[in-house]
Amino acid sequence: MTDPGPPPGPPHDGLPTPAYRYDLDEVRRSHQRLMRALPAPSTLYYSLKANPHPAIVTALRQAGCGAEVSSPGELRTAIDCGVPPAQVIYTAPGKQDSAVAAAITAGAGLISVDSPLALDQVDAVASALGRTARCLLRVNDTSPAPGQAMTMTGEASQFGADVEWIGAEPRWFGSRPAAEVVGLHLFMGSNVADEDALVAQFAQAIGTAWRLAEAGVVNLEVLDLGGGFGAPFARRGELPAFPALAARLGCLLDERFPDWRAGRPAVAFESGRYLTATCGTLLCRVLDVKRSHGRPVVVLESGINHLGGMSGMRRLPPILPDLGGGTAAGEPMRDVIVSGPLCTPLDTWTRVATLAARPGQVLCVPNVGAYGLTASPLAFLGHPAPVEVVIDGGEVSHVSRLTVTREVIR
Ligand SMILES: Cc1ncc(COP(=O)(O)O)c(C=O)c1O
Repeated sequence: MTDPGPPPGPPHDGLPTPAYRYDLDEVRRSHQRLMRALPAPSTLYYSLKANPHPAIVTALRQAGCGAEVSSPGELRTAIDCGVPPAQVIYTAPGKQDSAVAAAITAGAGLISVDSPLALDQVDAVASALGRTARCLLRVNDTSPAPGQAMTMTGEASQFGADVEWIGAEPRWFGSRPAAEVVGLHLFMGSNVADEDALVAQFAQAIGTAWRLAEAGVVNLEVLDLGGGFGAPFARRGELPAFPALAARLGCLLDERFPDWRAGRPAVAFESGRYLTATCGTLLCRVLDVKRSHGRPVVVLESGINHLGGMSGMRRLPPILPDLGGGTAAGEPMRDVIVSGPLCTPLDTWTRVATLAARPGQVLCVPNVGAYGLTASPLAFLGHPAPVEVVIDGGEVSHVSRLTVTREVIR
């Protein structure tokens, strides 16, 4: 583990720590980079689960993204940030009736459904509201696509309906009076950095969609191919480049769907981490430096409550952060245990850091704009959340702090 140097961008002087800093210019650059890697015409949905900060959602809406949301809270954020409801897709393997009602009432353009029961649910809720919902049928393919850091389908999972099941019982997956099935959703996995692996995954998805359409299971107006575009997490590094992806995907689509360039079907992709990972830096101070049983220990203001909390659940890559700013404090120590302030041994980012540190010094973790703060158990022990500082055009444009509050129900 090496020191990535001082934090990039304007100084953090005057702002409290810990702090997440998000650079909107970098969000815009990442968006342009991904759009260049996608075949045209296609729609890109920003997955708010990566980072629902309103400034980021607004910047991506202004850049032309729709929103992929998975909860009533994300739905509200997307709408509040000006995403046109027709450009919202609501996806989740289980949805309460109230969530489905919120999506339909807001006018969400698409609802992804994962089973016949889920289709019945949308039908019942839409019909009670006097509306009709447009649905995508999420498909769980026969085998996982290779090369994924996190496989979501192609194995037993809560996501989607197995392709064999759909083939065997097509009636169960057809349109209902108030829930029209207008296409397919094939999000197969996440964090793929290799272009060949992405092409293989999309080739598999396109083939599966074509077979289901040929069999008359679905009238394919919309083909949402998901995403899985990889990005660095808490480590130095650049976004992966996919120089030939657009052309290769265009050819694959041409072979199976000759009219896709005219919007039949309309092709869509989803991305969270690629769009936001590199915009974010976590700045946190060293609280204590000591030795324990012969090992150096550095205790920080931030631990798994602020970053990497979901690594233990395999939702994120294991946390092994590059800690910048650590060279200013003298000779580096080896095999440093880097922990947070929580009263649990789980609150350890790494036990093998090479780091110079002194109390009060600010360290920074790069590339944590995706799955940072809101992917962490913020309520555990009740420390205040880091402030979130938005930088736009090199200037601080917004500073806020997320709070966890208790609502009294009775
Ligand atoms: C359906 C769906 N879409 C999009 C995403 C976003 O993935 P990523 O942030 O890796 O782009 C996920 C992540 O789990 C997902 O489940």
